[in-house]
Amino acid sequence: MLPKQADRSAVLAALARRGGVSRDNVVAVSRETGVPEATVYGAGSFYGLLDPEPAVRVCVGLSCELAGAGALRRSLEAAGHRVVEAGCLARCDGAPAAMMEDRTIRCGGGAPAPGRVLPDDPTLPINLGGVDAVDGDPLAAARALGREGLFDALQASGLRGRGGAGFPAATKWRSVASQDDPVRYIVINADEGEPGTFKDREILLRRPHRVLQGIGIAAWAVGAEQAWIYLRGEMMDAWAALEAAINEAGPELGGVEVRLVAGHGAYICGEETALLESIEGKRGMPRLKPPFPTQSGLFGRPTLMHNVETIATVPFIAQRGGASFARPGLTEPGTRLYCISGAVVSPGVYELPCGVTLNRLIEVAGGAIGAPEAFVPGGAATGFLPMTYADVPLDHASLRPLGASPGSMGVVVLPGGTDLSVAARVQLAFFEDESCGQCAPCRLGTQALRQAMDRFLTTGDAASLAHVDAVAWEMEEGSICGLGTAAPAPLRSVLRYWPEALGGR
Ligand SMILES: Cc1cc2nc3c(=O)[nH]c(=O)nc-3n(C[C@H](O)[C@H](O)[C@H](O)COP(=O)(O)O)c2cc1C
Ligand code: SF4
Repeated sequence: MLPKQADRSAVLAALARRGGVSRDNVVAVSRETGVPEATVYGAGSFYGLLDPEPAVRVCVGLSCELAGAGALRRSLEAAGHRVVEAGCLARCDGAPAAMMEDRTIRCGGGAPAPGRVLPDDPTLPINLGGVDAVDGDPLAAARALGREGLFDALQASGLRGRGGAGFPAATKWRSVASQDDPVRYIVINADEGEPGTFKDREILLRRPHRVLQGIGIAAWAVGAEQAWIYLRGEMMDAWAALEAAINEAGPELGGVEVRLVAGHGAYICGEETALLESIEGKRGMPRLKPPFPTQSGLFGRPTLMHNVETIATVPFIAQRGGASFARPGLTEPGTRLYCISGAVVSPGVYELPCGVTLNRLIEVAGGAIGAPEAFVPGGAATGFLPMTYADVPLDHASLRPLGASPGSMGVVVLPGGTDLSVAARVQLAFFEDESCGQCAPCRLGTQALRQAMDRFLTTGDAASLAHVDAVAWEMEEGSICGLGTAAPAPLRSVLRYWPEALGGR
């Protein structure tokens, strides 16, 4: 086989095992895998966690910035650590967070407290706060329904993807099951990196069996024999929990082989096609769609891809039916795991009906601290909203006219007195750092927006922002993936709701 055609899928794991992208490691991995050195280097150098120099990674996500990431960074540097910035470590409930050289996470400068999850209610589909709510054998229940019966139950449940895009699950399952290619795969997206979001971490720690049960049902339903779980490399505790669950798993998997794959510190690999590229051992650069993963996904085969929360609801739907899942929803079917952090008494993950308001969520989280200034409704890509909208349901239909969306339900409450232009700058810098750089509107646009904001913050001159609408338009129209199209949202929302924070621009 020509070296250029060698299987690359082992390259990234081999680099990680050897300690990252050093000259010697690139040569050794090339010999081990048969992949050319240039290709090994090209793939590995994309990923922050494959940097061979040991470093502490301080989270600079919005919740951590609000909670004093800057001071944490200075104290770690004073203690002699090499410090680099991390986009979001999914510990917004323990902000400010840092990942030490040995990949343990420290929250608030100390050891991480267990995440807060509520309530404990066995009628909830996931019920993070209690003991395992699904008894019996969900795969047997699914088989009893038959494939079409299960697809009907999914449709009746109204389940939409919980990873951010909100695509109807039943449509994807039917599409994969109907492909001509007999080889199909399941891929679970556990790369949770959207700032403000930390629910998948809690599911993996507390309900790894539920995820595996969902995979077993999905594999049977779409005819897959292999499943991959792509887990972000910053979640070593979740890795251990999943590995133990996979080793313990029995008939609930129905014979499907489950492989765990580590991410290496690139937020963009949460985008589904970038994730597939990464499993295949390449740089995490999104593919042009169509074809969609349901048609041509992992290694070109039809692939059912789901977020951790989405797949974890499937056992409940198989056992109790679509209507039971849909029933608690207020404005949309079902429940969601709401992540809330920032200026609230008890940041955490709360499973509540779809369509609750921010006011209700704050109440469940023990109340607000002070008089909040604003909130992020669903993650960095969903912009900011004034507190006057705290009584609006956090659902797609209600948030769309406001220029927002529920995204991955990463709600951040900004304390009173927060300067929205500074908050927008935090989000813009995140997208600039995490852009994969393959398309010009996003690569240059994320940089131009952050630079314009820096000029404004330095000079106070609103003329610095003269071109931001044109730049944002180019990004929204011309970017390949959702990062580029969503990156202007934080700035757009500040322009819309707080023009005075931008010099009346
Ligand atoms: C920039 C970007 C980052 C994303 N990050 C994640 C992520 O961390 N986890 C996730 O499940 N989906 C993420 N998504 C959405 C995925 O592309 C995909 O829609 C999702 O995994 C499908 O699963 P679902 O239908 O169950 O939501 C991201 C999308 C974009 C554009
Ligand atoms: S929009 Fe940005 S992140 Fe997405 S493919 Fe283009 S450059 Fe990469």
